[in-house]
Amino acid sequence: RSDFVTHRIIIDCDPGQDDAVALFLAFASPELDVLGITTVGGNVPLELTHRNARMMCDIAGSDVPVHAGCDKPMRQPLRTAEYIHGETGINGIDVFDPVTPLQAQHGVDFIIETLLAADDDSIILVPTGPLTNIGTAIDSEPAILAKIERIVLMGGAMREGGNRTPSAEFNILVDPEAADIVFRCGRPITQMGLDVTHQVLSTKERVDRIRALGNPVADATAGMIGFFERYDMSKYAAPGAPLHDPCTVAWLIRPELFTGKDCNIAIETQSELTLGHTAVDFWHVTDRPRNVHWVYQVDSDGFYDLLTERLATYGDAA
Ligand code: BDR
Ligand code: CA
Repeated sequence: RSDFVTHRIIIDCDPGQDDAVALFLAFASPELDVLGITTVGGNVPLELTHRNARMMCDIAGSDVPVHAGCDKPMRQPLRTAEYIHGETGINGIDVFDPVTPLQAQHGVDFIIETLLAADDDSIILVPTGPLTNIGTAIDSEPAILAKIERIVLMGGAMREGGNRTPSAEFNILVDPEAADIVFRCGRPITQMGLDVTHQVLSTKERVDRIRALGNPVADATAGMIGFFERYDMSKYAAPGAPLHDPCTVAWLIRPELFTGKDCNIAIETQSELTLGHTAVDFWHVTDRPRNVHWVYQVDSDGFYDLLTERLATYGDAA
């Protein structure tokens, strides 16, 4: 393709079945140069999120370095989500001891060092878990800000309401102080909240297409979705699970699949009742700056076509 664009990205995640699918999609996408994976305590504790990320590297044959970051939020106690993801965080596939090593360097130090060594505006951060690592990195080394081209994150909600409290989505609720730092950092942000991620449902037909690819990554994806979807299917009476986190990666590869609007978004950090709420000024009723590209709509068939097409490439090497 003549218009080929390469984005250099760092994926900051808490796998999590949907984080795992985001990693698989990124590894299989030649538009993306994944410089590293940092993990954070979130869906499950940190020891499991870095183990799970390394398992995904093994399964996908990726040599992207994995760094463990923060094990707890900046100020809050860690809330986890085993009731959705299972005890391992990736229930639906068998756990094994990965060959991919854990890097010695702390995830936050990796983010800071990588950004400081980069050109201005040259690296995209892709957080798909609580924002603890990114918030901590910005807080301890503000000089990294100039290096950040954009932050493309999964978190928050407007019309869908919260999924962990009536007001808050899980990733933002777990570390609202870190989210507040990120949302006020002044760099461009693209946000995939529940309003859009609840549109990419893993229907039986879509998962069958993935399973039929018959390669190890497709098998792992279908296996993990099979476990992950049972929670949302019963909670929302939906025909499948929302693949929240891969929306970030898909937006980088095929932004034309998505519709969004530049808005001010601010994080509630004070109220006990609405902690972690993302206040989306969709109609610009304040003078606050439009700090976020808020994505609220997706061509979900196009999303699954893209995911299936990219997962199919894992069969090429076999
Ligand atoms: C988000 O929370 C986690 O459970 C998922 O991995 C996703 O990042 C959805 O609210
Ligand atoms: Ca996640």
